[in-house]
Amino acid sequence: MDLEQIFAVDEFEELARAAMDPGAFAYYYGGAEQEITLRENIAAFDRYRLRPRVLRGLSEVDTGSTLLDAEVSLPIGLAPTALHKLAHPDGECAVARAAGKYGALQIVATYSSYTLEEVAEAASGPLWFQLYMNADRSITEDLISRAGEAGYGAIVLTVDLATPGYRTREYRNWFVPPPEVGPANFTVGEGAIHSSVSELVANLTGDGYSWSIVEWLRELTELPIVLKGIMTAEDAALALEHGADALIVSNHGGRQLDRSPASIDVLGEVVEAVEGQIEVYLDGGIRRGTDVLIARALGARAVFIGRPYLWGLAAAGADGVARVLDILQTQLVNGMLNLGVASLDEVTREHLA
Ligand SMILES: Cc1cc2nc3c(=O)[nH]c(=O)nc-3n(C[C@H](O)[C@H](O)[C@H](O)COP(=O)(O)O)c2cc1C
Repeated sequence: MDLEQIFAVDEFEELARAAMDPGAFAYYYGGAEQEITLRENIAAFDRYRLRPRVLRGLSEVDTGSTLLDAEVSLPIGLAPTALHKLAHPDGECAVARAAGKYGALQIVATYSSYTLEEVAEAASGPLWFQLYMNADRSITEDLISRAGEAGYGAIVLTVDLATPGYRTREYRNWFVPPPEVGPANFTVGEGAIHSSVSELVANLTGDGYSWSIVEWLRELTELPIVLKGIMTAEDAALALEHGADALIVSNHGGRQLDRSPASIDVLGEVVEAVEGQIEVYLDGGIRRGTDVLIARALGARAVFIGRPYLWGLAAAGADGVARVLDILQTQLVNGMLNLGVASLDEVTREHLA
């Protein structure tokens, strides 16, 4: 496969479909119920328009930024997604190598198929650790201290999973990961049970999430705490009250509550609610460089991609993920030059039509 002949990240989806087990592909692709939110995440971006400024004397642009303490060359990070070995035997380690090459931040999932230490070993760029709570808090405590020791720069608590979404497509294509694709951070008995991926998450999520968990985490670790899955101004205000260091506006890629709005459509209200006190990021539906500019214009400091890099990983391992990042970077640079901005900080609401 000549990756240089792929010019849009969408094209990787069909390559991944061909490369993957149909059940695993359905797990990756699917959303909840009618997949309205899944489609809307992408459709919403298509409704925004940019206002180009011309004759700005630009020959190059700077795509660099910071996310909390992490310096990145791209404002496009890799969202946490479970069990990368379903896509490729090199799994999360391949993703880490590609992210490092592009100076992109990777969030490693609790349910990674390599251990968090193995991914840290493969990484050269910044890493954050995504947390699902365990009913047994000592298991969570252990994971957090391991993440700290391995050099992860923040804990990303996923808050939008009171229970796994009603994922019709996944149920229809019932899929149990093969034994070699288990959640590597857990030893047998803790989490390495072989059920469908949603069941796995349900079993380990534990006894219901409440805001007290954020306070509990705050006591437990000095690492910054990022809350992933905030979709309203009300919850953004509560997140501030409970000491969150940053937020990710996200509807879990349309996999949780179907009929949630597109994440890009609620970014504005969340940004307004936090009044610049903490950083706000966004994921869901990012498929091209101009999507990044729209999110930036609406106040997201950075964005994260989920499925696009999984498709790249399934199609061609680390090289496929690298090509996805390469395309997005090239499109972003092109978009910045044609929008008339030399740096991401110059992108404002004035750039939205
Ligand atoms: C196959 C798959 C697995 C995911 N696993 C997790 C996970 O373990 N933890 C989590 O916080 N989010 C998980 N997500 C959600 C992503 O982090 C992210 O919110 C979403 O994929 C962004 O939307 P996009 O796929 O349109 O880019 C998963 C998403 C997919 C597609």
